[in-house]
Amino acid sequence: MGEQTGDPKKLYIRTYGCQMNVYDSERMAEALGGNGYVEVASADEADMILLNTCHIREKAAEKVYSDLGRLKGLKAAKPDLKIGVAGCVAQAEGAEIIARQPMVDLVVGPQSYHRLPEMERAAGTTKVVDTDFPEEDKFERLKRRPKAQRGPTAFLTVQEGCDKFCAFCVVPYTRGAEVSRPAARIIDEARDLVERGVREITLLGQNVNAYHGAGPDGGDWSLARLIRALSDVDGLERIRFTTSHPNDMDDDLIAAHGDCAKLMPYLHLPVQSGSDRILKRMNRQHTAESYLRLIERIRTARPDILISGDFIVGFPEETEADFRDTLALIEAVNYGHAFSFKYSPRPGTPAAERAQVDPAEADARLQRLQALLTRQQRAVQDAMIGREVGVLFEKAGRETGQMVGKSDHLHSVFCEAPGIVPGDMRRVRIVSSAPNSLAGEIL
Ligand code: 5AD
Ligand code: SF4
Repeated sequence: MGEQTGDPKKLYIRTYGCQMNVYDSERMAEALGGNGYVEVASADEADMILLNTCHIREKAAEKVYSDLGRLKGLKAAKPDLKIGVAGCVAQAEGAEIIARQPMVDLVVGPQSYHRLPEMERAAGTTKVVDTDFPEEDKFERLKRRPKAQRGPTAFLTVQEGCDKFCAFCVVPYTRGAEVSRPAARIIDEARDLVERGVREITLLGQNVNAYHGAGPDGGDWSLARLIRALSDVDGLERIRFTTSHPNDMDDDLIAAHGDCAKLMPYLHLPVQSGSDRILKRMNRQHTAESYLRLIERIRTARPDILISGDFIVGFPEETEADFRDTLALIEAVNYGHAFSFKYSPRPGTPAAERAQVDPAEADARLQRLQALLTRQQRAVQDAMIGREVGVLFEKAGRETGQMVGKSDHLHSVFCEAPGIVPGDMRRVRIVSSAPNSLAGEIL
């Protein structure tokens, strides 16, 4: 697929949902670059619009359909405009999307992105749908465009799919079975990112700590092994990973949090509920107690680690007592960051068939849970005042001379930073705390 001549065509990608979609959107933009496209920031001027969708909760899918509805005017004004739907809604709905919105030209599931360039060429002449799960590393075929300079942080997908089948979750159906990329390819990609200015890499996977990729030595590498190898990449200063299942936190990964200097003191470890009765019905395969013991071991390895989590309230049959168990677990853990959701029945998942909690009651619980989590997050953030942290600066702040970056613990930190440019790392003393950020002084 050679570069085309003439004016570049304009591509607009809208990304919904998780960080893996952000990574996938970058790869798709690069792949379509080979078809003569450059990315633009608005749908109005585009020759092709791609919605990279999320199916994890109801509203996201409905939003895709209403966004598609709004694109009708653009398509009417510009009949050559190509419209594609990618991501997990594409995987789940397939040709149904074209049945519901006939102006859509192509539907491509997350495992078929390497076929996007040929699909794009066919689109307009014929409708194309690809939601297969092929046995190949699509990212190998979606090579990054050489040379383009990057910001200081990047995502890197190392693992996809999930075999856990939590009773509420569509991921095992939309992203398929767990697949890990070979370690050597990941290390190559990391080196390439570093050459282009990246200092911090977040390793992505739906179940990233279950990573078990082929190692260059022929063995099976764990995530800890991969992180240790990435630590040897010169110029790479920080490593993070997300998102993890408690049952896949093995001893070596816990140890790495203590002895691997580039691995940042931040761990996103969803628990979903603090009630053993609900955890069982969720098919989580762990208890509240085993989760708390695990947190304790991780904190023994890395005492200042910031713990982040995901919570679902209003899961079928959740009682007030179950909900209070969740509040108690949150009190026991002391979260520095969290995401919380009202349960949303996903078609095809086991829990969708069960008796649902009254929506008003679920709303009320979500508010109570979020009030507690917000208090905790703020207290954890306030406790940073007076401490010395590493900050990787990413961009200019609101005021002149000001820069903003992320601390080791992933807090946003504003500093007076004369002469500092994106990608610089400094030791910073935290001096104050605002609702969503810290302010610090460079040491
Ligand atoms: N309803 C509500 N929240 C959900 N999540 C996943 N599936 C659902 C659902 N059906 C949440 C979980 C998961 C996060 C990515 O999204 O908390 O960890
Ligand atoms: Fe979904 Fe995560 Fe459970 Fe896998 S482990 S089924 S991705 S919630």
